Amino acid sequence: MEFQDVVRRRRMVRNYAERPVERDVVDRCLRNATRAPSAGFSQGWAFLVLDTPSDVHRWWEVTTDPDDLAAPDDWLTGMMRAPVVVVPCSSRTAYLSRYAQPDKGWTDRDEARWPVPFWHIDTGMATLLILQTAVDQGLGALYFGIMPDDVPRFRELYGVPDDHEPIGAVAIGYSAEPEQSGSPRTRKRRPTEEVVHHGRWCP
Ligand SMILES: Cc1cc2nc3c(=O)[nH]c(=O)nc-3n(C[C@H](O)[C@H](O)[C@H](O)COP(=O)(O)O)c2cc1C
Repeated sequence: MEFQDVVRRRRMVRNYAERPVERDVVDRCLRNATRAPSAGFSQGWAFLVLDTPSDVHRWWEVTTDPDDLAAPDDWLTGMMRAPVVVVPCSSRTAYLSRYAQPDKGWTDRDEARWPVPFWHIDTGMATLLILQTAVDQGLGALYFGIMPDDVPRFRELYGVPDDHEPIGAVAIGYSAEPEQSGSPRTRKRRPTEEVVHHGRWCP
């Protein structure tokens, strides 16, 4: 698919077909994720892949209120059919360690030096590559958040170490959605002229 078509076609999918996803399709998403840029080439990301029915089901168990799980709404019903959930995790420690190396020299490992948390930025960029690669292969995907209260149980269940923070999750599968779902149904994309400032913010 042309890159411009991938960008244009990408939208979040919240309703999946009962159809498995081939392993190599997911592998390609993950390989492309590792092509993302990263500050100092720190690459402080990791991806937990849940691709068996039981692992995926446990994801929903650990992140969903039991009452909601017993009576899932449309969102949850559509989402629980996704055969794959990838949890991108970012490592702050990896960045502090990388930037303490001689070519960077931030040996105090002071977090105040960081203008924004590059570990989340880079993992987010990798996550976008997962979303785009899914589209390129004819699949749908959705990035969605994980609630802070669910993180400790998530860590325990899947053995995720404390130095890696889940930045959310990406559901991947074949779309069963005929049209756009979510907020774009009720909100318009902001026009480029409104968000781009050439040379100076205010004229
Ligand atoms: C940081 C972030 C968090 C999001 N969280 C959710 C979520 O929890 N549930 C959901 O259905 N969509 C979630 N979305 C998807 C957005 O609603 C969606 O990207 C936005 O409405 C634009 O639609 P599009 O991506 O289909 O173009 C999230 C997107 C981002 C970037």
